[in-house]
Amino acid sequence: MTTASVNERIQLIVKGASKDSTCSPSLVKGPWEFDGGPAHYGPGASSEDTIPADSPTQGVLPAEYRLASDAELHERIIAAKQTLGDRVVILGHFYQRDEIVQHADYLGDSFQLANAAKAHPEAEAIVFCGVHFMAETADILSAENQAVILPNLAAGCSMADMADIDSVTEAWEQLEELYGTEPDSQGRVPVIPVTYMNSSAALKAFCGAHGGIVCTSSNAEVVLKWAFERGQRVLFFPDQHLGRNTAKAMGVSIDDMPLWHGRKPLGGNTAADLEKAKVILWNGFCSVHKRFNVQQIEKARAEFENVRVIVHPECPMPVVDAADEYGSTDYIRKAVAGATEPTTFAIGTEINMVQRLAAQYPQHNIFCLDPVVCPCSTMYRIHPGYLAWVLERLVAGEVVNQIKVSAEVSENAKIALERMLAAKPL
Ligand code: 13P
Ligand code: SF4
Repeated sequence: MTTASVNERIQLIVKGASKDSTCSPSLVKGPWEFDGGPAHYGPGASSEDTIPADSPTQGVLPAEYRLASDAELHERIIAAKQTLGDRVVILGHFYQRDEIVQHADYLGDSFQLANAAKAHPEAEAIVFCGVHFMAETADILSAENQAVILPNLAAGCSMADMADIDSVTEAWEQLEELYGTEPDSQGRVPVIPVTYMNSSAALKAFCGAHGGIVCTSSNAEVVLKWAFERGQRVLFFPDQHLGRNTAKAMGVSIDDMPLWHGRKPLGGNTAADLEKAKVILWNGFCSVHKRFNVQQIEKARAEFENVRVIVHPECPMPVVDAADEYGSTDYIRKAVAGATEPTTFAIGTEINMVQRLAAQYPQHNIFCLDPVVCPCSTMYRIHPGYLAWVLERLVAGEVVNQIKVSAEVSENAKIALERMLAAKPL
């Protein structure tokens, strides 16, 4: 078993020193080579992910960071952190590269990191090593005087980009026209909006303003239960797979989960389909988790008799059905940590996290279901060069790359986020 990091494996593959394969040779380039460049997410981009025109773009990273060696950046990050002490807290998502994770004060899934952002009012700055929607959430939940910093502004999320406020508002208006707004005899309104955490602050605000809620992959079932207590049906966006997998596990029939295609009248459905719908699924997906398929699971089972297959609920339904278990990134981490006997794990989630688990638990055989090394392209944009830069600017008294949600959006988004935080994972 190799303990090389994802970056080291990519370098070996591109040099021809490893037989593995990678989703793109451009992975070896620094993310700054793509900053301000053509409208795609750069190294590791899956399915030609495209950045929407109004997304923040990252300015050119100063040459001293672009040209510094990995070892120099590592030392500079440590030195800046030491100087800043409690003035800064660094949050890291499980999908971040090891070179970043080692500097994080807190590592977690999106639910845990939302809580962590709230829990450190002593820090002047929260440096969020994750993606844009996570940093927005941290800004909404943290104190007014705290600055939330995203080291690379171009670290977005292609799934979050698949639902925009205009399309969702348009869908909502069509649904209101169809269903009306009157509650039924049990006091349940016709439809409750539920947004996955992986969405813009504007969509979280939409949910807050319309009696809705946010969910993460770790509490989606608790959140849907909350929604069904208050509404006859749910409009779930942007991730169709998380919505479908969760509702199916709760006993909702697939026939009662129509897919909503933005910009088509009634989302491409008939009024009759929508009348009987329980969960209306937005047509979004994660390009990383979409790569997993049932054939990969069959291959793992053929090769390893007692393999334990665990996948993330952003995977398509046939993959979740064929797996032994599914759950959020923290669920997967806990499942591995809790295994008392040497076990073979085939895991369907982002490669940085799977590789880290494999290195942390050498008593187990842990591998990623997808044989191709292809990290989440947007998480991958947080390179140590950017982290060193934002920290050293803080040392110099300058806040760069601050993520600031407007007071108007923040107020309603916070309502939906606080509802979510109260819905603790099972
Ligand atoms: P969780 O951190 O909730 O498992 O979500 C995974 C993910 O895709 C984050 O973008
Ligand atoms: Fe977005 Fe998927 Fe990357 Fe998560 S893993 S940030 S959902 S593209």
